[in-house]
Parts: sequence; C-alpha cells; structure tokens
Amino acid sequence: MATSIIPLARGLPGIGSVFDMARDMRAFMTESYLEHGPVFGMRLLNRRFTVLAGPEANRFLARQGTRHFRSFEFWSGFNAWFGAARSTLSADGPEHATFRRALRRGYSREYAEERVEGMIDIARQEIAAWPQARPMAAAPALQRIVTDQVGTLVAGVSPRAYNDDLVHYVHGLLSATIVPRPYLRWSPRFRRASAQVDKLYDEVIERHSGSMRERHGAEPDLIDDLLDLHDADPKFFPEADLKIAAMGPFVAALDTVAGTCAFMLYALLRHPDVLERVRDEADELLSGSAPADQTLREMDTMHRAAMETMRMYPVTPLLVRTAANSFEFAGHRIPAGERVMIATAVPHYLPEFFPEPERFDIDRYGPERAEHRQPYVYAPFGLGPHRCLGNGFAEVQIAVTMATILHEVDLDLDRTDYSLRTTQMPLPAPDESFKVRVRGRRGAARPLAERKPWGARWGPRGAVLGGALWGALGAEATREAFRSLTPAPRRTLSR
Ligand code: HEM
Repeated sequence: MATSIIPLARGLPGIGSVFDMARDMRAFMTESYLEHGPVFGMRLLNRRFTVLAGPEANRFLARQGTRHFRSFEFWSGFNAWFGAARSTLSADGPEHATFRRALRRGYSREYAEERVEGMIDIARQEIAAWPQARPMAAAPALQRIVTDQVGTLVAGVSPRAYNDDLVHYVHGLLSATIVPRPYLRWSPRFRRASAQVDKLYDEVIERHSGSMRERHGAEPDLIDDLLDLHDADPKFFPEADLKIAAMGPFVAALDTVAGTCAFMLYALLRHPDVLERVRDEADELLSGSAPADQTLREMDTMHRAAMETMRMYPVTPLLVRTAANSFEFAGHRIPAGERVMIATAVPHYLPEFFPEPERFDIDRYGPERAEHRQPYVYAPFGLGPHRCLGNGFAEVQIAVTMATILHEVDLDLDRTDYSLRTTQMPLPAPDESFKVRVRGRRGAARPLAERKPWGARWGPRGAVLGGALWGALGAEATREAFRSLTPAPRRTLSR
C-alpha cells in the first residue's frame, strides 16, 4: 500500500536546496538518500522535484523508463531557443527511436576509432600552444580540444574560432533549463554569442550543401545523415528542428568529455603510480607500431582509470523527467505530471557496492572484483531509453585525448597542496582554480627520425616533404599545412 508523505531533503526557506546542490550535487543526493531512503522531495527556488535514488531507482529507470517517464517538458525550453519543437533528448516513444537510428553511426565507437589520427592531431595542435612553466586552467584547455575534435570529425567544421561564444551560449541555455533566467534574452554578451552560434550553423550547412558534397565525395558524416532524414520525411523532421540536432556535435563533449578529462587529469596527478602506467600505454598508442584501434582496446590501465574517474566524478549525476503515468515506487505513489529527478550516481558512493568509495582505486574493475558489474550500480552514461548514444565515442575520445596529453607533456599541479574545487553548473567540473603547469615537452622533444614524419600518409614523398617543411617552418606551420591539405571526410550525394 503506497504511503503519501514523502520526506523533504534539507534546504532553506525560499531557496530550498540551492546551496547544497551548488556545493556538490552528487554528494548531496547520496547524503539525502542515506537520510531519507530511495524517495525524497527537493526544492530548488520555486520548483519542487521528487527524487528517486539508489540502485532501485536505476533499475526502475532502466526497466520502466519508457512507460513512466517523459523527457519533453525538461528540454522544451532548451529546444525553443533553437526554434525547435523536438530534439533527440526531448523526444519519447517511436519518434525518439527514429532519431536515435539516424544519429547512431555518426556518434558510434567505430566512427571515433576510424578517426583516432584526427583526434590526436587536434589535441597536439592545442597542446603545442600550452604555456611552458606557467599556470594554466586545465578545464577550459580540455574543453577546447574535445569540442574541436567532435565538431571537426563529426560535423566537418572546426568550432575553434567560436569556442568562447559556444561555451557562453550553451552554458547560458543549460543553466536556464535548470534555474529560470528571464534576463538571458536581453544580455548583450548572450546575444552576441547567439549570433556567432547562428554563423557556425550556417557554416555547417554550407559545407554539407549539395554542391559541396558532390565536389568532395567521401564518407557521410552525422550532418549528412540528418539531412537525409530531413529529405526523406520533411514533415517528421522539419528544417526548424534541424539546427538543434546539427549543433549536437558542438555541444555533446563540451561539458561531458571535457569535465571527465579534467577530473581524470586531477586524479592522475594525485596518483603518480597510476599516471606512470597510463603514460606507458599512451606512448605505445602514439609511437608504437600496432594499429591505433588495436592499441586503444589494449589500454587496460587507461580504461580503468577513466572508469574510476566517472564513478568518483560523474558529470551527469542525475537526470530530470516528468512522470508520464502515475506509478508506485518504494512504497510511495508518484502522480502523473510530477517533476522527477533520478539520481543515477548515488550507488557510486555506497560502500556496500564500492568499498572505500572515496578512494581512487582502478583495481575495482579487474576481473576478480568487477564491482561495476553489479546490477544497476554503475551508470556514468545514464540508463533507460535515453542512455548516452555517444558512450563508445566518448570512451575513445577520453582515452585518445588523455594519451596525447600524457605523451606530449610532463605536467605538474600548479600548487602541490591544491585540493580539488568544483563548479556544478551547468554540469559538475573542476573549476578555474584547478591549474597545471607544463614542466617539459616529451613528444615534440623526441628526434624527428623517431617520430612518424609529417606527410607519411602520402607515402615516401609526402614524408620527405613533411621533414623539409618541419625543418624550415617548424611544427605548428607544418601541421597547419598538412591539415589544410586533408579534406574533411565527405561523400557524394544525389541531393
Ligand atoms: C563522459 C562523456 C559523456 C557522458 C558522461 C554522457 C552522458 C550522457 C547521459 C547521462 C545522457 C542521457 C541524458 C538523459 O537521459 O536525459 C546522454 C545522452 C546523449 N549523449 Fe552523452 N555523454 C557523454 C558524451 C557524449 C558524446 C561525446 C556524445 C557524442 C559524440 C554524446 C551523445 C549523446 C546523445 C546523442 C545523447 C542523447 C540520447 C537520447 O536522448 O536518446 N554523449 N549522455
């Protein structure tokens, strides 16, 4: 028999749990779960949420998510900024499945694995510009790398020139989705950023227009797949809904992969023994002779370190939904229409599943312990029908980006006594106080003869040209020259 009184998580009159959530939303969810059990209420300013937490909530989301939850309401404001009625994140039911099918190839692990070289090139280019022996905020530097990688490789356009505007725009919108920001529309900075994002979108569409496609002829990317979906059924997927979907590659990694890489960098710098093992694997990936995709799969320490980072520092520790149908959960009745949060990362810190949860311990994931394999306790990529479509892509991207950094530079924490401080908005990430210094350069410092020469992919003549350019112009200009000679992957289309 369902009881009706749902306990309320701690908070202050008028503002509710805003401060606790701003401190560490994952920790606050775990504390509230331990105090109240798997169902509790929470207020954020004038909004009330019913929170479902613990392995039982994850199980419910995975098994009954399609039937009982709807994503539409939470994302509808975000969609409206782009002029869209729907997006993959906000769609439910059969139309959601159609969206996922259209996006699957371009966001897949296989697509990422085929582009490892491109990811490394982009990361190297950014790392080459990192200052020597001076403090540098790590999170924004990582954000530039990973956003450039996904934008360039998945949508065919580098967002480098738009980076600051993109971050400002997306953070403004995401924050407004969580806490209302009626003034946003009038902010001159936000309006400028919005105009730049429009320009980026125009560039993406221009690069994929019929004539461009026919000129270049190559493999299709995600934007081609979206345009195909639009062409096939413009009523189902109208032009008005295209922009938000086409901007996906510029947004997908911006806070998720970037935040995870920043947390991982912090964890590795705090655990030099693990860092050394991960670096050995990185050196194998970047200078070994085996194919990159094979080496990637063999990077066991890197993979475990990434998993442990995502357990301890989940960048998406909760999901927001609306109850589409009334249901019972843990003895409580949740009525249709209720605003619900599912705190998916709560089990990550429950010692019955992950002993000594505050300890960074990559051996949890070995075959003997396999703590992550217990049902519904490890969910860094969410659960249920909207589970991250880019999880394989993200895993490849994290491994390749971290490997390139560790291979190219020796880094130190700016202050050895530093302890991590985070921001929670729009997603959890190390804040600007997390600074690192380049102590020395490793990759670039190695003699040219030991490295794969620039232009090697064009055969021996390309390699000779690459070596000559390197000698005459230096690494940066040589890289630029070869990048501009390499067409973005594209295909010929009849359109
Ligand atoms: C560490 C990195 C990442 C994390 C932790 C993460 C996490 C998530 C989570 C939790 C969701 C589900 C949201 C919900 O249920 O409301 C999601 C959805 C999604 N993610 Fe990721 N993500 C990551 C990186 C990426 C990347 C790199 C891509 C693309 C290349 C991507 C593409 C997507 C897409 C398309 C969806 C929508 C799926 C749907 O609504 O059906 N993600 N992600």
